[in-house]
Amino acid sequence: MRIAELLAHGERNVEVTAKGWVRTKRGNKNVAFIALNDGSTIHNIQVVAETAAFDETLLKNITTGACLKVTGLLVDSPASGQPVEIQARTIEIYGLADPESYPLQKKGHTLEFLREIAHLRPRTNTFGAVFRIRHAMAYAIHKYFNDRGFYYWNSPLITASDAEGAGAMFRVTTLAPGETDFNEDFFGRPTNLTVSGQLEGELAAMALGQIYTFGPTFRAENSNTPRHLAEFWMVEPEMAFYEIEDNMNLAEDFIKYLVNYALEHCADDLAFLEKMYDAELTERLRFVTANDFVRLTYTEGVKILEEARDTKGVKFEFPVFWGADLAAEHERYLVEQHFRRPVIMTDYPKEIKAFYMKQNEDGRTVRGMDVLFPKIGEIIGGSEREADYDKLVARMDEMGVPTETMQWYLDTRRFGSAPHSGFGLGFERLVLFVTGMTNIRDVIPFPRTPKNAEF
Ligand code: 4AD
Ligand code: MG
Repeated sequence: MRIAELLAHGERNVEVTAKGWVRTKRGNKNVAFIALNDGSTIHNIQVVAETAAFDETLLKNITTGACLKVTGLLVDSPASGQPVEIQARTIEIYGLADPESYPLQKKGHTLEFLREIAHLRPRTNTFGAVFRIRHAMAYAIHKYFNDRGFYYWNSPLITASDAEGAGAMFRVTTLAPGETDFNEDFFGRPTNLTVSGQLEGELAAMALGQIYTFGPTFRAENSNTPRHLAEFWMVEPEMAFYEIEDNMNLAEDFIKYLVNYALEHCADDLAFLEKMYDAELTERLRFVTANDFVRLTYTEGVKILEEARDTKGVKFEFPVFWGADLAAEHERYLVEQHFRRPVIMTDYPKEIKAFYMKQNEDGRTVRGMDVLFPKIGEIIGGSEREADYDKLVARMDEMGVPTETMQWYLDTRRFGSAPHSGFGLGFERLVLFVTGMTNIRDVIPFPRTPKNAEF
């Protein structure tokens, strides 16, 4: 039985077997107390071993990090804070962990140090909690969409297009250094790792109605920030017949569902993270589920920021004016200082958004939407899509997006076009928010960032 089960409903005075890794050992010359963890829960099970009953070398070899199989009676624990303990009858050591070289000792380690040993950090309480929550969020995403009739769709990871038109892509090639003839390359043309599954997701939405992708995406932006990864996971629902309002409603409902799911299913891990890192964690999560998100246009948002600067003396590092791409400091001012609530901002200047967004009547703005969150900034980016073939082609021409190689995409607008919308949720930004961690490198098992592809 896994330790979570033993702790939750193990039958008393019955012999049980537990297998796991030693977190700590303490005791005296008569008895050893071993805290054992198998990853199934943040809680350890206490193993009590009478020293007289065990070989001295065996007990000596039970050190932090060693892996054990323990058999013994499960009994009510006299110690506070744990329901049961195991009175060990036999202990087998599966694997030793030499205390001289095992890097995870009993004392707490900094998150920075743990990043250097990302291959071992899942064995800490913190990363056990984070990765269990990450799993719960992935499961909840599939459940949310499945329960609502969305189909899981898989866009390719290797593509010859640049979905966002942002140009920060990783080349995929089998050419040797110095070879430049793409005819000789594996695909016979330049290819790259995808920055988004959206464009292929749109094809699917125009056939299956409602789909979502959930997979890795890659961006070679040189942004060394606590919120950017070069390889991150994105969830991208795409819905036929959704206009921007419907898209906003879905995004808000979706995030609230996920946060609620964490509150309901990850209580122990959240309590641990709250105690160790972030005293307001669950309060913040509850707040998000309980309150409507503010909805406002980019134009209104800029007005608020300009006023804050001109009349309240708020200092921003980057300039604010209509047309500026808002920086994280601006987004966070609106969310954390001005509204104190999540914000969905819409109707951005077309110059700062991607070519596929539906153009508004005013000729200046597009029907994009960003969901802005406390502590995180942008957690979702999305839009209603330009469904009109001619308008889309005109915009692509204006922005230098090649229409010849994108006929496959334009075909959705040539044949049976329809209003449709979608958005992308940055999975690690969601996990950041839910866990209260502050660096995105600490919510993905093996972070990929500039100058770092270790493990
Ligand atoms: O706003 P973005 O660039 O939107 C798209 O890619 C659209 N194709 C989505 C769509 O409409 N289907 O990215 C979406 C989200 C962002 O809001 C952010 O949460 C996350 O992806 N994101 C990143 N997360 C980690 N590291 C990065 N470098 C990220 N870039 C974007
Ligand atoms: Mg964006």
